[in-house]
Formats: sequence, structure tokens, C-alpha cells
Amino acid sequence: MPVAARTAVPVLRDQEIPTWFKVGGRADRMARPADADELRACVELDPDCLILGDGANLLVDDEGVGELVVRTDAPALSAVRIDAPAGLVVAGAGAKLPRLVNECVRRGLAGLENLGGIPASIGGAVRMNAGGAFGQIADVVERVHAVDRSGAPVTRERDQIDFGYRRSGLEALIIVGVELRLPHAEPGVLRRRLLEIMEYKSRSQPLGASSAGCLFKNPTLTRAVEGIGMPGQRVSAGLLIDRAGCKGLAIDGAEVSPVHGNFFVSKPAGRAADVLRLMEHVRRRVLDRFGVDLEPEVVIWRRR
Ligand code: EPU
Repeated sequence: MPVAARTAVPVLRDQEIPTWFKVGGRADRMARPADADELRACVELDPDCLILGDGANLLVDDEGVGELVVRTDAPALSAVRIDAPAGLVVAGAGAKLPRLVNECVRRGLAGLENLGGIPASIGGAVRMNAGGAFGQIADVVERVHAVDRSGAPVTRERDQIDFGYRRSGLEALIIVGVELRLPHAEPGVLRRRLLEIMEYKSRSQPLGASSAGCLFKNPTLTRAVEGIGMPGQRVSAGLLIDRAGCKGLAIDGAEVSPVHGNFFVSKPAGRAADVLRLMEHVRRRVLDRFGVDLEPEVVIWRRR
């Protein structure tokens, strides 16, 4: 049964969609719900609405989008409550992951330090199980509160969530808030671990450039690739792109980062089309060279 929304939500026309790429089109309609009731009103207004977290793993096509774009960064939807003695963190979908990482390290709660250097909202991070070589957010998720596309509230316990590599199975839901359970640890130890991870990333990633982090998922090899890996092994897409000779390659306003092959960087006057053409070109080069078909990790919004 759809839950009737009692609240109206202001909708703005023709709005910029802020993303880390800093390219792409606009939203015909955008809303910034103040709380969970207004979020439900958004879903009622447009059941196909698109949720904008931090825009850190998002590429919007130059034509923009017609669906209602919903921002989750209002204070009531991005609040964080930390009960350190209990090891419990309750975070709104719009809370920023890097801030939460720092806060948990400071309070001696372990797990999130492994996600240092990943820009994301908590909702976005859980939806795509953000993470990398050091850990993934699934490791600490206890419970997720969401609404479905009829606006009905849904709660998923950890054992009901089908987390996998860069996926959660929660993609059809709209995450409202998340509960995390974190074990205690010495803050000094956590701080050193976080620093190590940040140092690794500042050496191996173009931090600070206009990019959406890793663009392609790390593929699992179906056959041995010399110098790369064995069948069944998940290997770095960046390494494959690098070995295919694509680092530093540019198409108009988009460039494969010379630092890390899986990071594409957009130049100030760049367009989403440049990034998309470069993605296709790189995908082809890796396919021709190694027989591995890379799949995008970045979420792409296109006008339908
Ligand atoms: N490598 C190259 N050339 C490249 C890129 C990588 O030779 O251009 C080599 C590296 O030297 C290293 C190996 O490939 O030996 C793995 O590289 P890296 O440690 O950078 O990790 P990755 O497998 O490319 C990345 C990200 C993930 C991201 C996934 C894709 C880390 C540290 N980095 O891994 O996360 O999600 O690929 O799913 O895990 C992040 O955590 O900030 C991040 C972007």
C-alpha cells in the first residue's frame, strides 16, 4: 500500500547538478527535502526520482535529466549521532563519509578508517558498498532505513542485505539513514592507520583533481592474463588500463590520469561527452589488448 505523503516539498526548476567531475547537464527539477516526510513526498511526486548524494561517483550526461533530482544534504537528513560506549553510529543518508571517518577515529571506533580518502555521502557509500583494497562499508553496516518507490518505509537488517563487490542489492530503495556497529580501538592506532592509507592514496591517486574516483570496476579474470593475474582473480582495472598504454591519453576535455589509469580527469571546459568517449576508447583498448571487457563503476545519468 502506498503511504500518502502529508507534506509538500518545494521543487526548483533547471538546476545545476553538482558532481566531482564538474561536467554534465542540469536537472529539469530538483528538490532538497528537509526531512524524511519531505523525502517521501518527493517519491510520491516522482517515483523514478534520482537521488544525489555527494556526486562523487556520478557522471551526468550533457543533456541533463528530466526526473526529479533529490538532494539529501539538508541538516535533518545528514545528522550523525555517535554512541561511543555502545559502538553505535546513526547517520543520515546525506552525512559526509570523510567527516564520519575522522570522527570515529577520534572517538576510538574502528572500521571506517579503512575508508579514508573516499568522498561520498553515507547513503551513496552504502548503496554501492564503497571501499577498496583496505575495506568496504559493508563490514560495519548493522541496519539500513529506507523508503521504497511507493514511499513506504523499509528497514533492512545486515543479514538481509546482499552486499557484494561495489553493490548492496539496495539499489531500488532510497536510503534515509544507516546504523553502523564499530568495535573499540585505540584512537592513536586508528589515526596511524588512516594516515598510512591517505599517504598511499596521495601517492597513487590524483586526489584533488576533478574526477569520480575509479571509473571502471576491477574485473575478475576469466582466463590468465600474463603479468596481470590468474583466472578467478579480481585485478586492478587501473593496472590493465595502464598496461594497455592509456595513461595520459586525452579526448578533448577529458584525460586518463597520468597518476592512476582508472581515474579520468575532466578539464574546466570539458563535457560529459568527452569523458564518455574516452571511457569507450579505453574500454576498447583494454578489450583488444587483454580480452577483458571493463564495466563502469561510475553511475551514469542520461535523459530518457
Ligand atoms: N596500478 C598500476 N597502474 C595504474 C593503477 C594501478 O600499475 O595506473 C597498480 C598499482 O601499482 C597496484 C595495483 O595496480 O600495484 C592496484 O592499484 P591500487 O592500489 O591503486 O588499487 P586498485 O585495484 O586500482 C582501486 C581503488 C578502489 C576502487 C577500485 C575499483 C584502492 C586503494 N583503490 O583499486 O578504491 O574502488 O580500484 O573498484 O583500493 C579508493 O579506495 O580510494 C578507491 C578508489
